[in-house]
Order: sequence, then C-alpha cells, then structure tokens
Amino acid sequence: MSQLSALQIARKAYQPKLPPVLRKGPGSAQIKFGAATESVSDQAAVKALFPKTYGQPVAEFVSGSSKLAGPLTVGVVLSGGQAPGGHNVIAGILDGLKAIDPASRVLGFLGGPSGLESGKYLEITQAIMDGYRNTGGFDIIGSGRTKLETEEQFLKCKKVLEDLGVDAVVIIGGDDSNTNAAVLAEWFKAQGSPISVVGCPKTIDGDLKNAQIPTSFGFDTAAKTYSELIGNIERDCLSAKKYWHFIKIMGRSASHLALEAGLQTQPNLTLISEEIEEKNETLAIVVSSMADLVDSRAAADKNFGVAVIPEGLVEFMPDVKKLIATLNDLMAHESASFESAADQAAKEVLLEKHLPGDVSGTYFSLPFGIRGQLLLDRDPHGNVQVSRIETEKLLGEMVAAELKRRSSKAKFSFLTHFFGYEGRCAAPSNFDADYCYSLGYVASLLVNGGKTGYMATCSNLTKGIENWKPGGIPVTQMMNIERRHGHDKPVIRKALVELDGAPFKKLEKNRKLWAETESYVYPGPIQYWGPSEVCDATTKTLELEQG
Ligand code: FBP
Repeated sequence: MSQLSALQIARKAYQPKLPPVLRKGPGSAQIKFGAATESVSDQAAVKALFPKTYGQPVAEFVSGSSKLAGPLTVGVVLSGGQAPGGHNVIAGILDGLKAIDPASRVLGFLGGPSGLESGKYLEITQAIMDGYRNTGGFDIIGSGRTKLETEEQFLKCKKVLEDLGVDAVVIIGGDDSNTNAAVLAEWFKAQGSPISVVGCPKTIDGDLKNAQIPTSFGFDTAAKTYSELIGNIERDCLSAKKYWHFIKIMGRSASHLALEAGLQTQPNLTLISEEIEEKNETLAIVVSSMADLVDSRAAADKNFGVAVIPEGLVEFMPDVKKLIATLNDLMAHESASFESAADQAAKEVLLEKHLPGDVSGTYFSLPFGIRGQLLLDRDPHGNVQVSRIETEKLLGEMVAAELKRRSSKAKFSFLTHFFGYEGRCAAPSNFDADYCYSLGYVASLLVNGGKTGYMATCSNLTKGIENWKPGGIPVTQMMNIERRHGHDKPVIRKALVELDGAPFKKLEKNRKLWAETESYVYPGPIQYWGPSEVCDATTKTLELEQG
C-alpha cells in the first residue's frame, strides 16, 4: 500500500450513505416484483437465446421482513474500463453480506473476467477493504476486458467457482460486461447450477441507463474531473487569447460525457456525435462548419476558442462509420492475412484489394497516422479502440487545411488535449461514493434473494438519498441484437444521447450564444466538505433529465 495523502486519510473516515429502505439491514428489506419484461427489441431472437432468464420481472426493495440466506460466498469481478467508485461497490457488497451473516465471504477475482477462468483471487477481508474505501481505481483486484463466451471458458469458470464454494458472482461492468453476466447467468441455469450472476452498472461513458438506471456509476466523478480541466483551459484561453483548444473527451460511443462537460463549462463548441449522425454530416461537413466558427470568431477579432469533441465521433460520421464497419468485418473475416501483414503499408495493400471504391476513397483521404490508428486491434468485444484515434488532431489539421483552402484571414493556432484516463480513477465524488456503496449493498441483497441475470439498481437519484429507490432489473430487458466481429450477437443496447432530451436541448438553445461569446464556466475541483450545493450536486444531465 502506497503512502496516503492527507485527503485520502481524511476521506477514509467517510461512511457512505444508504437509501432509507436499506438502513435497517438486509432482514428489513423485501423484494417486490413488477410485471414480466421484454427486451428493448428483437424480442423473439433474444428470448430464444435466453430461454431460462428471459422476461423476469423488475424488482424493487421495500420495507418488510425478508429471509436471510445464511453465510454466502460471493465472487466479485471488476470488468472493463476503470470508473470512480468501484472500490465502494465492493465495500457495499462486503458490508451487505456481513450483515446477512458475519461468516459470509467475498472473493475478488483478479484481473477482470479472466480471473474467473484462472481461479486467481484475493479474499477481501474487512482489513483489506478498509484500505480502499472511498478511493478511486480498480487496483484492489484489477480489471480486464476478456470476453467469456466459449463453452470451454464457462466450464473452467464453473469448476473454479464450485471448487471455492462460491454461491454467486457479481460482475461490475459496462454494457459488454453485463451482457457477459447475462450469458453466464443463463448458462449456469441451463446447467442446473445454483450459482447466480448479478451485474452492477459501471461506466464513465454514461451509456448504460434506462428508467431504472438513471446513470451508471463513475459518470458523475469523471464528468466533474473533465469539467474542472476544461474550465482551467477556458480561463487560460481567455487570458492568452491566442489558441484554439481542441479537447477530446472520453466516451467510446455515446457523447454523454462531452455533453455534460459542455453544459458544465459552456465552451464555444461542443460536438455531439448523435446529432452529427442524425444530420448525416460527413467528416468534410464537420470540418467545414468548424472552420466557419473559427472564421466568424476571427472576424470579431477573437482568434481563440475552446471546442469539445466526443471520443466516439469517428464512428458517427456516415462516411467514417461505413469505413470502420467495413474494416471491422474485413479484419474479422481476413484476420489471418491481417495478422501476418508485416506493417501498415502491407495491410494497406490488402485494403486496396478488398475495400469498395467509396470506402477506399474515405480511407486514403485520411492522414497516414490516423489510418494506422483505425487498423489497430479491436477490443475483445469487437469494438474499435476509439481512445487511440487522435480525432482532435485530425480535426485540428483538417480545419487548418480548410482555412488555408479558403484563404481565410483567421489566425488559427491550435492545441489538442485528450481527457480520458485522467478521470477514470479519480477519487469518487460524494454522489459516486454513496451510489456505488448502495449498488454493492443492493447486489448482496439480490444474491440473498437468489436472483440471477439481474443488475443492481438505485433510481430516483436527484431528490436526495432519502428518496433513492433500490432494486434490480433483468439484464435481458436491456438487450437487442447487434453486429459484432462480423456476427449478429445479443448485447445490451447502448443509451445514446437523445436529441429530444432536455440536456441536448439546453446545449442547442445556447449554442449560438456560447459560440460567439466567452460564456465560460469554471466548475473547479470536486469538493467533499462544504455547502451541499457544492459537494452533493449531481450532474447537469441527471438534473435536466429527471427534473
Ligand atoms: P467501459 O465501457 O468498459 O466502461 O470503458 C469505457 C472507456 O473508458 C471508454 O470511454 C474508452 O473508450 C475505453 O474505456 C478505453 O479503453 P481502455 O481502458 O481499454 O484503453
């Protein structure tokens, strides 16, 4: 354990809060079930793939006595990208299980889902947990992106879990990891195994949400961290008045983080991928309208500005999206040739042979470096690794070229930034500390109730913790069929930014004003102690969506 900072020492003493219904302990919270559920689309196909777990009802915890299962052994997995508050989820699970029975145990599988196969684990005792409460990071047991999908992998996991006497596994992850959790839950049921699988909604991207999951954990802290940094840049920009800052904000697909940061800091431009897709704007159109903005500010003698760019943008511009989809299929079907190609030039010889004309035109119009980034390996779930594509540089260079082509009088000197990894392991805000702890506690109660194929939830988050509603949602309810690695697969549907939603409408309404003026807002760093409006505020997104 490394040396603790003064803040860490003070923060260790924080006892995260639980919603009222959970405060009297697991024996006083009862599960109330709603109606049977359907998947968001492709119902027949999803049902056929999940015959044992499809259609389960939504669950809510209400006051009332409930039977305690006795000592439980629960495996925990942290899956995918880090998100602030993951350690508190585990603390909630541990405290919930100990309240169910002090002899309960938590086994943390190491390095993500692959830990379930290898059987490498750390028993999380109170003493170990106490060193991680209210801290950022996933370092207590590490994370990983291994996809569990083959029969051989499932059999290995089953043996590991049976040998260790594990009753249930909690998978703390995003859409792909919870899809995995649902597949595993179904498989265990089909095998007649009593091992249950419960998920927890994690991802800074904020794209795992619905009526029961108002936000995924980590979004609040990450968005506030990026907003602090953007505010600092805005102030620098306004002081020096000589640079355009192109800032890419993490979020693999949806633009929730960029939108939230845009609402918090009010830069001159916030691009929203979902809008660009809706308007069918190609890369050339996006570049041209950015150049228009640079030109119009220059005409007002403002050769500076701040533009926020969502990480996932490249996959939403129709021409680049088509290129990526074609590359994905090609790289999946011609994987042997791609893997044996010595370098980018050799891969491009293959592309010249296989890419249709228009797609090839888009590909070869991009700078060499960006082309190489598009060819990097996909993640184990078949996604292009957008965090490694320098969209902010691509746009900066293309805007400069467009201004030159127009013989513009603007003085365009641009700097690029990428805020992603800076926010994923930040110490959780008060909101995330409480939310994560509550989600973990709820997961332990779902396990106590023998639920499988469910995700732990806490809804009604904007009216103070006294009004939070804990429950569970069947994972199959969030699923649809999508193309991955060149095949149709059941996956949790990503919740993208809704263009008729209140957060986007607010941006749209203010867009012109914020473009022309310097309406910058400087949110400053996350605070833990002080006035409630400073320390306990949720995100603008939640505030606007939930009222
Ligand atoms: P999850 O979906 O697993 O939560 O990960 C989110 C994310 O932080 C994305 O925003 C980003 O594109 C990606 O992970 C980066 O992945 P990696 O950690 O593998 O570099």
